[in-house]
Amino acid sequence: MYPRLIVDKEKYRHNLQKLKDLCDPAGLSFMAVTKVFRAAEPLVEIINEEAPGFIADSRVENLQKMQTDLPKVLLRLPSVHAADAVVEAADISLNSEVETIHRLDAAAEKLGITHGVILMVDIGDLREGVYYQEDVPSLAKEIDAMQHIRFEGIGTNLTCYGGVLPTRETLGRLDRIKDDIETTLGRKLAVVSGGNSSHLHLLMQERSIGSFDNLRIGEALALGRETAYGEILTGFHDDVFVLEADVIEIKDKPSLPEGKIGMDAFGRKPKFIDKGIMRRAILGIGEQDVVPGDLQPIDDLDLLGSSSDHLIADVSRMKNLRVGSVVSFKPTYGGLLSLMTSDYVVKAYV
Ligand SMILES: Cc1ncc(COP(=O)(O)O)c(C=O)c1O
Repeated sequence: MYPRLIVDKEKYRHNLQKLKDLCDPAGLSFMAVTKVFRAAEPLVEIINEEAPGFIADSRVENLQKMQTDLPKVLLRLPSVHAADAVVEAADISLNSEVETIHRLDAAAEKLGITHGVILMVDIGDLREGVYYQEDVPSLAKEIDAMQHIRFEGIGTNLTCYGGVLPTRETLGRLDRIKDDIETTLGRKLAVVSGGNSSHLHLLMQERSIGSFDNLRIGEALALGRETAYGEILTGFHDDVFVLEADVIEIKDKPSLPEGKIGMDAFGRKPKFIDKGIMRRAILGIGEQDVVPGDLQPIDDLDLLGSSSDHLIADVSRMKNLRVGSVVSFKPTYGGLLSLMTSDYVVKAYV
């Protein structure tokens, strides 16, 4: 059945091993982040076999279904309304609100367990985290005093909302905060967790990244890309995930629609370039599954547009294409997220 997403488990394993090779010499552990593929079981199994330090996801539902002995980390700040579910599903969560941590403490007490907390510090990207540096040591003290919370350490996230790059200067801010907290608590922090795949560019160039001892990595493992500059990482596979869609119509038609132009299926006013008569194919996939801008064709075709259930392509250069032929694409991060979320896309693990 098409459309289908081919998932190459051994290529994913290879990327995990390459990341280990990068992180080990720099003294870094990493969290394998599973959210882009919704913690799909076949890839969680590969993570279990390769055994990085932690497994992490932003959704409680994904952590709940995961079968693993690795410490499970919730990446998105917990909702106060989900404190019970969070401490049950995750060993550790990233946090920035002391009120929420008190709720986690109470929830952990009910279960008779301790829950690990990493305090997120915002060093400029303006997504999650405590922003004012002077607030952090007293907050750390308050968290450390909670009976059913293990204060694991601090973390930060960059290149997400603000696109701020992890430079030595920016990361230096976290070093100072770490030193202040360690002085206040009188002990070393167990975890200093840097951000995401955007840190790998710096790591590859300089072989180390400040005082971090951990990274949280999703995209580099799934797509073989770092996210500071969007470069493919040397030696990583960028085709762990390949989308296949089949041709459900193929005909010669003009490139300009005929008649007065109103709105398309999504209320947008479409624009067209007149290229004369072209060989046009309709593929059996649409915006309910993925938007065309999130697909990079592997075959020699150009995507023209889409509606909810149809993707239209100029296939003039593909002379042998027929009804039922299959064409392939590499998805972007956003594309992969929506393809994995669509029930209409078959997932084929090879
Ligand atoms: C807090 C946090 N850390 C790390 C990651 C992983 O980011 P990336 O996929 O760019 O490696 C994410 C996103 O999934 C996240 O939300």
